[in-house]
Order: sequence, then C-alpha cells, then structure tokens
Amino acid sequence: MARHDATPRIAVFDLARTDGEELWGYEPGAHIDVQVGELQLVRQYSLCGPPGVRKQYRIAVLNDPASRGGSRAMHGLAEGDRLRIAAPRNRFGLTAARRHILLAGGIGVTPLLSMAQALDDTGGDYHLHYCARSRGEAAFAADLENHPRVTLHFDDQTVQQRLDMARDVGGPDPETAVYVCGPGGFMDHVLGQAVEWGWPAAALHKERFSASAATAEPSASDAGAFTVKLSSTGTEYAVPEDQSVLDVLHANGVDAPYSCGQGICGECIVRVLSGEPDHRDDVLTDDERAQGMYTPCSSRSLSPVLELEL
Ligand code: FES
Repeated sequence: MARHDATPRIAVFDLARTDGEELWGYEPGAHIDVQVGELQLVRQYSLCGPPGVRKQYRIAVLNDPASRGGSRAMHGLAEGDRLRIAAPRNRFGLTAARRHILLAGGIGVTPLLSMAQALDDTGGDYHLHYCARSRGEAAFAADLENHPRVTLHFDDQTVQQRLDMARDVGGPDPETAVYVCGPGGFMDHVLGQAVEWGWPAAALHKERFSASAATAEPSASDAGAFTVKLSSTGTEYAVPEDQSVLDVLHANGVDAPYSCGQGICGECIVRVLSGEPDHRDDVLTDDERAQGMYTPCSSRSLSPVLELEL
C-alpha cells in the first residue's frame, strides 16, 4: 500500500496485490470493504481511481473527528502496510441517462471521480460540481480545477461561486441523471432542493457515508419488539427493542451477510415475504421497497411478525 496526504485531513491510499497480479474489475461508483486496525474494523471506501486500471485501487480517507474508529485507524497506517480488502460492490453506478450531473460534497467526491474518469474515457456528457470548505481542504482540486467539465465551489469564497442549484442543476430533464455524495447535511440540502425543483426520485442517485438523521432517528415502531420468521425453516426469533434483526439472526447462528450495519451499503438486503416492514435505511429505492426488499441491519417492523426470505 502506498500513501500520500492530499490535504491535512485527507490521506490517499494506492492499493495493489502483494503478488503483483491484477485486482477485480469494477464499475465507476463502486466501493470496497477494508479491514483496518487492531479491532479489524470493516469500513467501506469508494474507489476513486480510473475504473479501467486493474493493477491498483485508489481510495481517499477523511480523518473525521466524528469517526467510529475506522478513519482514525486508516490515518495511522504507513507506506507499505498491508490491508485486507473485499471485492468491489456497487449500488451507485452510472445509469443509461444521456447526461450526468455529479454533485460532490467534501470527501464525497471519491465515487464521483471514478464516474467522471469513466465518462471522460467514453466521451460521456457530464458536469461535476465539487463543493468543499476551502481549496486547502479539497483533495484532487489541483487535478480538477482546469477541467472543462468540473466546477469547484468553496464555502470560504464569494457567495456567487458556491453551488447554486437553480443555476448549476436547474429543473428536471428526462435525459439527465443526478448523482449526489457527501456529508449528511450536504446531501439533505441538495436532494431537498432537487425535489423542490421537481426532480423525480428515479433521477436522483445518492450514496451516504453514514445513516441520515431520518434513519438514525427513532420511529414509533422502535419502541416495540417484534418477531422475525425465516421462510426456509419457519423458525421464529424475538427481536427486542434494543437489537436489530441482523443482531438477532447472528446471535442465533444464522449466516446473514452484512457490511456497514447502518442501512447504507445494501449488503444485507433480503426480501420480506409477509408482514409490514418499517424501512429505516438510506439505500433502497422506492421501487426496491415496493418489491419487498429490506435491510435487516437497520429496519424494523410495523407488524408483530415479519417473515423474511432467508
Ligand atoms: S449491512 Fe449495510 S445496509 Fe445492511
């Protein structure tokens, strides 16, 4: 692993296999699980290098004071340290839209950078708006500032150069898709304005680093326990008010996949066969929810029993 510090708070890591072989291929917008630190914390980081380069993955990590430990552990790594990673996954890929508007807040630029590089390679029509507190805190700013399809916006400069949704995004266009990644406040603001401007949910694509306030907030159903039933065996498990469905499944030896544990990555998605789910995630679309998809790591139930296809 090679490391350089792009800003005082953002470290860039270039990862390669120790045997020199190629890594897995991936589509722009993908992320990897990285196992880090003495506690073997598993954290997700977006791949931000050109997607066609198979010898090396690039990730960039913000040393976030609100970190749950992962980013601090990453910043403690030195050049040459070894990391264990998992194959890339992607729930934030480019769509078939004719035009793409990429809206990045801070370190949220990482998945959008790989999208921009892929669109540059294929001659795709896009514009990247990259918002940061200041030039000094914007990783990759020097590479991007003269790019004709990129606009940089800094909080500490004039109001006129800040992201203006009316000017920079405008109203909905059936041939355009909007992609948003950044801190929660940035995402809520940008997505809220896009909805106000009439953008349909299907045209807005987002990836969060942590659960949104709405997801983390307790709902009426959080106060109650319920029962989860597995379709394969008919076994029922009580889910107490202070445990997630996923915790209960794991405590009972059920091999259910997961990664983030916060309703943001989609790794744990299962199908609900009966009952009324209380969706508490930031990853499923309305269509996916309507098809019965459910995140047992974060979501609960409005009905006394929820049957899962497991
Ligand atoms: S483990 Fe990431 S959404 Fe459930």
